[in-house]
Amino acid sequence: MRLVVLTGAGMSAESGVPTFRDALTGLWARFDPERLATPEAFRRDPDLVWGWYRWRAAQVQRVQPNAGHAAIAAMERDGIEVDVVTQNVDDLHERAGSTRVHHLHGHLLQSRCIDCGATAEPDPIVAPYEGGDEGRHEAPPRCARCSGLFRPGVVWFGEALPDDAWSAGISALERADGVVVVGTSGLVHPAASLPGLARWRGLHVLEINPQTSALTHDVDEHWAMTASAGLTRLAEELRSA
Ligand code: OAD
Repeated sequence: MRLVVLTGAGMSAESGVPTFRDALTGLWARFDPERLATPEAFRRDPDLVWGWYRWRAAQVQRVQPNAGHAAIAAMERDGIEVDVVTQNVDDLHERAGSTRVHHLHGHLLQSRCIDCGATAEPDPIVAPYEGGDEGRHEAPPRCARCSGLFRPGVVWFGEALPDDAWSAGISALERADGVVVVGTSGLVHPAASLPGLARWRGLHVLEINPQTSALTHDVDEHWAMTASAGLTRLAEELRSA
């Protein structure tokens, strides 16, 4: 059996990583994406943007995968071919043991030169972080090769998705027997178009989300459960099927 699990920020919420659009706790309720998550924002104030992503990188390194991440990895160990197609920039799927993870929105824990693409070892984005709770201005390091500024390895609004992750996601969908959508509001395209594409191909789409989302009207099944509860149940059901 082949499964595609499409995950969003709700997947990591129970690990302690805030989502983007949940009222009150979502990052975009407290911070302005125009000032932090666009190429223009980085050009305007690189210290603000670098400092904010350094804070988020430190936060992700402190937390652990939750029972939902573990359940997906367990499905793979049980013999199901699982491709995780994630909008998340953390590494919690990998740390839980999933081996085929495609990051549509890049990697928070990797940075590179904005001009020549060079990386550095160790990666400066994961250097020990002394800043406060919500990020503080911190100058991004300069590239040893071309002296360009280092930027976080995430996809910002207005940027294209990485080709390799997108193609891997599409080809996984083409092979899949079913799709599970977990913890996404379904508002950010092109990732949000994948469940519709799956249904168009005749695949069964199950959504796991305690709330309804922009996708709920177009899925076959909606389990109003958290990622950890829903995925644990799904792994058990598949094991005993
Ligand atoms: P959102 O913050 O838009 O949506 C999070 C979803 O998770 C909501 O539908 C919640 O109901 C749901 N949720 C909350 N807690 C949950 C839990 N414990 N279990 C399951 N679901 C839960 O996050 P995304 O849809 O991932 O882009 O956002 C998409 C993109 O917008 C992100 O990748 C990011 C952001 O701007 C970039 O960084 C490029």
